[in-house]
Amino acid sequence: MTFQLTSQISATKSELYSNLSVQLRALLEGERDAIANMANMASLLFYSLPDLNWVGFYLLKNNELVLGPFQGKPACVRIGLGSGVCGTAAKRRETIMVDNVHDFPDHIACDSASNSEIVAPIVAGEQLIGVLDLDSPSLSRFDEEDAAGLNELVEIFVKATDFV
Ligand code: SME
Repeated sequence: MTFQLTSQISATKSELYSNLSVQLRALLEGERDAIANMANMASLLFYSLPDLNWVGFYLLKNNELVLGPFQGKPACVRIGLGSGVCGTAAKRRETIMVDNVHDFPDHIACDSASNSEIVAPIVAGEQLIGVLDLDSPSLSRFDEEDAAGLNELVEIFVKATDFV
């Protein structure tokens, strides 16, 4: 299989996310394995969205989040539910955007290059699967359009994937 990442130069943010939705559907088509789909989704986002230094998944296992497939520097492996940005987003089942991670009281610093962050929960039916975490070296990198776009991508991922 060859997969061509389409160029996003000069696209608006909403064009970028609708493009990514099409690409993600194509990338996940015919494959329902969770690790394979997370790995490909992390790569698609890392190489398509500008100004990121980390993209990856944390998965809920025995009531804590455990590092899953990602792109970027090695990261902390275990995060308690309710801890850090990831654990807070998971516990509340809400997307959390942090303009300046150094102002977030409970932020867990994995890569010192990170300055802003967005974390979207992954929920299949009623089941909390984990979170999708994106970090940027820029302050205030993420806005409501990113939150909406990423939530739509997470929905595509959840529908395309088996979690057993
Ligand atoms: N900053 C996150 C930890 C994960 S890393 O950014 C990859 C947090 O506070 O939960």
